[in-house]
Amino acid sequence: MNYGYFDDKQREYVITRPDTPAPWANYLGSPEYGAVISNNAGGYSFAKSGANGRILRYVFNNFDQPGRYIYIRDNESKDYWSASWQPVGKDLETYKSECHHGTAYTKMLADYSEIHSEALYYVPLNKSYEVWNLKVTNTGKKARSLTVTGYAEFTNNSNYNEDLVNLQYSLFITRTAFEENRIRQTVHGNLDTLKKGEMVDNKTATDRVFGLAGAKVSSFCGDKEKFIGRYHSYADPAGVEAGNLGDALSYNENACGALAAEIALEPGETKEIAFILGMKENEEAAAILKEYEHPEAACAKELEELITYWHEKLSHFQVNTPSPEFNTMINTWNAYNCFMTFIWSRAASFIYCGLRNGYGYRDTVQDIQGVIHLAPEMAVDKIRFMLSAQVDNGGGLPLVKFTHNAGHEDTPDDASYVKETGHPAYRADDALWLFPTVYKYISESGNLDFIDEVIPFANKDEGTVYEHLKRAIDFSMNHLGIHGMPAGLYADWNDCLRLGKKGESTFVAFQFYLGMTILKKFAQYKQDGKYIKYLEESQKKLENIIQDLCWNEDRFIRGFTEKGEVIGKRTDPEANMWLNPQSWSVISGLATDEQADLALDMVNQQLNTEFGAVLMDPPYHAHAFDGALAVIYNQGVKENGGIFSQSQGWIILAEALRGHGERAFMYFKENAPAAQNDKAQIRKLEPYCYGQFTEGKTSPHFGRSHVHWLTGTASTIMVGCVEGIMGMRPDFYGLKISPSVPKDWESFEIEKDFRGNHLHIVVKNPGHAESGCKKLLVNGKEMEGNYIPAEVMTKQTEVELIMS
Ligand code: NOJ
Repeated sequence: MNYGYFDDKQREYVITRPDTPAPWANYLGSPEYGAVISNNAGGYSFAKSGANGRILRYVFNNFDQPGRYIYIRDNESKDYWSASWQPVGKDLETYKSECHHGTAYTKMLADYSEIHSEALYYVPLNKSYEVWNLKVTNTGKKARSLTVTGYAEFTNNSNYNEDLVNLQYSLFITRTAFEENRIRQTVHGNLDTLKKGEMVDNKTATDRVFGLAGAKVSSFCGDKEKFIGRYHSYADPAGVEAGNLGDALSYNENACGALAAEIALEPGETKEIAFILGMKENEEAAAILKEYEHPEAACAKELEELITYWHEKLSHFQVNTPSPEFNTMINTWNAYNCFMTFIWSRAASFIYCGLRNGYGYRDTVQDIQGVIHLAPEMAVDKIRFMLSAQVDNGGGLPLVKFTHNAGHEDTPDDASYVKETGHPAYRADDALWLFPTVYKYISESGNLDFIDEVIPFANKDEGTVYEHLKRAIDFSMNHLGIHGMPAGLYADWNDCLRLGKKGESTFVAFQFYLGMTILKKFAQYKQDGKYIKYLEESQKKLENIIQDLCWNEDRFIRGFTEKGEVIGKRTDPEANMWLNPQSWSVISGLATDEQADLALDMVNQQLNTEFGAVLMDPPYHAHAFDGALAVIYNQGVKENGGIFSQSQGWIILAEALRGHGERAFMYFKENAPAAQNDKAQIRKLEPYCYGQFTEGKTSPHFGRSHVHWLTGTASTIMVGCVEGIMGMRPDFYGLKISPSVPKDWESFEIEKDFRGNHLHIVVKNPGHAESGCKKLLVNGKEMEGNYIPAEVMTKQTEVELIMS
């Protein structure tokens, strides 16, 4: 069953049935002003921080309410409906609607009772407020008189938690006022005599505003209870029913902004208004509203600016393959998803309630990988930031606060850090993610100078990027476990696997191995012979340990606990086969060809399902060891045998690196949202964004997916597809092209911007191979192998690769 379709040209997902199995969301705005909106206008907004800058209230676990509601009332019949299907929820036989989620805007189209409405929601580029632009058209033959009401439910306190749970306080600090065209809500209004910058108990008066432009306010209400009415709901607010909001204000209790305008429409006539919402002081609010006096022109221009901005970002890497799902994900939706995780980390969605006031180290360093091929300049800024959150001992701060102050931070060795962040210790993998991320950035951009850029450490001192990476090696070297592999410390990538401080994870060991391979390239560039020797010796030693201890007939084990128990051996009654050690044995380059093929075959046999490969199997139940925290989850979900989609990206990459195009693509397709557009009743989640996990075979809801948008899945799948399936493998000096694709792809094209040049790449595969390169022509000249040195590229470079 589907609820909509992809409009690839506009880069929109169009929802044609509003009764989706879950709220299907979109992101608006920037870190200055963020907003999440569903296809039924549910959602919330915040200035700067989801935790401390909350403006619009949203009640989690509550069927997507409240939201940015616009009610339309026919003053003659007294019938009313909403510009989004909910909250009024008219019969879908008579109410027709479409929701267009686009790049940083959402547009709701509705037709009911011969009135066509278009509600466009967006945050203008580089602005810190939001716009709800409504267009209403009379499509009938008689004149109509409408009352249009916009409703914004303010939080009583900018701190989201206080607003929802500390009512004995937050109900008594809020008040509203009306002025000309706007409702002003002031939180801590009694502190308005304080001078700028002054505070009482860390608090100061804060203004929010909800205003109307393009029409006169006919009535208003600043009090939620009066607007909705006791024993009414968002579906039938008393103020809307009455056609007059009663001009009430609030002093204490729940504030809101509700503004009504009377709109008369002749047959065929269209009128436009705009509601503006933000955390703005009165004068600024008045000035902003003035800019929207003629909403038609102002809003159209701003929408155009947003589209230009985002479509330009996405344009740097585009594919045209025989798979529409692959094209739509890589060209638009996976890419846009990567930008959203890059921007929002795990801060604000319908699942992340906004309380996480920082960046997870490993998450963020991986998120960066998803945008490197599209926006290396954005990526490098974040890389600098994350390097500045590396402690001078080489480890990463598990949580990097949004207020991070490089050079002056406490570390997990300090009780203060532990208390403030809740992270009790270093994790084994955090800093190891830097290796592939920094390498990918330098290789994409060609910015070799970055290697020598000096960046502070989190707590004290500074060093070049090269030095930072060396310290990451030192960190693992100084924290070895019982067999000489990197120690498990607090956890590895898997938050639910506690191997103990001296336990050892094969996943981390593979990451460490790869880190050393990558750092050797830097050392070669630096002509640091002594260090190359050190890395070679250390890497060989590590390889021997892994080969001696971690290969178990047809699979790599998951690790050792500090007591020496082996986790993930083939004879274990539960969790005897794990996905990540198999894929990472290949990604790291450690597995022999034979081991790689065997391990990947076993993944295919034992872990794969029609919705992707489960993280491990069988799930923990009765045989969990002490550190197997996954057992706290139901079977088949999350880390307990769920299809943890982030890992799907690594298995795509591993298969592609082995040249197994069929399997790489199969893994892509199984879990690709766009490939499940017709299975919305099973998947439940938006068909245009990734989720953290899909329920596995052992769940009664096999195939249902969860935790939308903000997930590491976006970047690992992007890397799996771009570097793996499409075979874009830049290095310091050029670009290797090594596609791994389904046999029946006879040809495909790639448009890629690379270091200021544009590459138009045509790949031909008449012999139906899964991988390989018979011939590579660059501007008509044959290359050696499948490598293009950067210096042969021209502004417009024509590339032809014959696979078979
Ligand atoms: C979610 C976390 O955000 C991510 O860092 C972690 O690796 C996965 N859980 C797996 O446990």
